[in-house]
Amino acid sequence: MDINDIRDRIRCEALLGKVMTAEEAAAMINPNDHIGISGFTPSGYPKAVPLALEQRIREEHFKIDLWTGASVGPEADQSLVECDGMNRRFPYQTNSVLRKAINSGKVHYIDMHLSHVAQQVRTGFFGELDVAIIEVCAITEDGNLVPTTALGNSPVYATQAKKIIVEVNTSQPLELEGMHDIYQPANPPHRKPIPIEAAGDRIGTTYIEVDTDKIVAIVPTDITDKTRPFAPIGDDARAMSGHLIEFLSNEIKQGRLPESLLPLQSGVGNVANAVISGLVDSPYENLTVYTEVIQDGMFDLIDAGKLLMASGTSLSPSPDGLKRFYAGIKDYRDKIVLRPQEISNNPEVIRRLGVIAMNTALEMDIYGNVNSTHVTGTKMMNGIGGSGDFARNGSLSIFFTNSVAKGGDISCIVPFASHIDHSEHDVHVYVSELGVADVRGLSPKERARVIINNIVHPDYRDMLLDYLKRAEQKCGFSQTPHMLDEAMEWYTRFNETGSMKK
Ligand code: COA
Repeated sequence: MDINDIRDRIRCEALLGKVMTAEEAAAMINPNDHIGISGFTPSGYPKAVPLALEQRIREEHFKIDLWTGASVGPEADQSLVECDGMNRRFPYQTNSVLRKAINSGKVHYIDMHLSHVAQQVRTGFFGELDVAIIEVCAITEDGNLVPTTALGNSPVYATQAKKIIVEVNTSQPLELEGMHDIYQPANPPHRKPIPIEAAGDRIGTTYIEVDTDKIVAIVPTDITDKTRPFAPIGDDARAMSGHLIEFLSNEIKQGRLPESLLPLQSGVGNVANAVISGLVDSPYENLTVYTEVIQDGMFDLIDAGKLLMASGTSLSPSPDGLKRFYAGIKDYRDKIVLRPQEISNNPEVIRRLGVIAMNTALEMDIYGNVNSTHVTGTKMMNGIGGSGDFARNGSLSIFFTNSVAKGGDISCIVPFASHIDHSEHDVHVYVSELGVADVRGLSPKERARVIINNIVHPDYRDMLLDYLKRAEQKCGFSQTPHMLDEAMEWYTRFNETGSMKK
């Protein structure tokens, strides 16, 4: 591609002289640089420059640190690992090649609450940011940046970086302009209240304001977002969605929730998407969403006329969902607002709106502590992402989990979770395909019985009840009875025999 392909997208004449190839832009990056990129899920991330950087690293052998919004596509998260060029990475990832590099000690990974990143970058927790690479669909007359399908940490990276490389992506429609709402709070002690009182409130600009002197390169590209398909919605996810709707309907009946609920947050992954899709068949109308990622299920709700407004930081649809979004962008754009992740995931706003937080666990324990990140306690899966931002601050915090994994060889509810991301203090309700454990107002020992009886698979129910009863005897009915050696035996047994069953 050359300058003529993107002339209509660069409205600032003074910047036209900065247009160059991805290879020329990648040559401006130095070994050991800290690079902050746009993108959140495989959406809105730069593609051409990371691929050119990969080629350079293959020849020159050096490493860089990569800071992102969350997971990004393979052009960055896979290519820069395959050439052995990634030293440090934060705050979230989902790529299998990167995951392997993290779990074999090749990449230092810092797993962070996504709402924390911007302030910590501004404060300098990670050192200086050398380069920001930001994907845009256009550059305004004043040289400001119009983002694409994700906002993530782009504003903070663009403002903090010493130099900025811009990728102008012609595969991203110009109609995206106007969907973003960019507001950057000041760091304490100068922070003001964030004036969002409803999911759709707009408080900022539709572009990222930048110092144009810092823009060193503008790279045209048409490489598309590598969004991923969701697994077909299975019986278990459908059952969880049904249990959720029954639970929420009862909350409305009891007067604890309004008829149109409170703003919904739904996590990443197959289960979360399936649960949101299930709301299409629910009786609720005039719903709002205040979340992090906008997945296909939200488009289903908009098309069904049930969703008034969805606020997020990223569009994270399947490939078919992305086509559907582009085709209907004129209608969808009025109902979707994309914010920086420090605002979409901001505890102050989440508490004010009373968000209903719905996230997925890998495993949890009988007392309600949740592991979202570490497979059998040691291996990183993806990361905590925004689940902690929402689970800790939502007015109602719900976790979903299948009762078993790996064909029944693993019970997703264990005596003592092998890693804890969300503690018993953060969560109110747990849902598996078997039912709902509503533990509000219950002490740990009461809670354990509700969890075991309502959501544990029958193959493991007696084992867990037996564990609880013996632990109570052994600990003299203490607040949270445990037999730690025996709790860990569940993992030893799995590692030795391939099953947690006795
Ligand atoms: N022990 C070991 N492995 C387990 C397990 C357990 N208790 N429970 C599930 N798994 C495995 C599954 O077998 C599956 O493995 P596979 O990929 O080899 O098939 C994998 O974990 C994913 O499980 P799945 O049921 O498909 O879950 P998902 O797609 O709904 O994702 C999380 C679940 C927890 C990984 C995902 O939600 C996540 O990364 N969460 C953290 C971030 C987050 O919540 N962000 C949201 C904020 S908006």
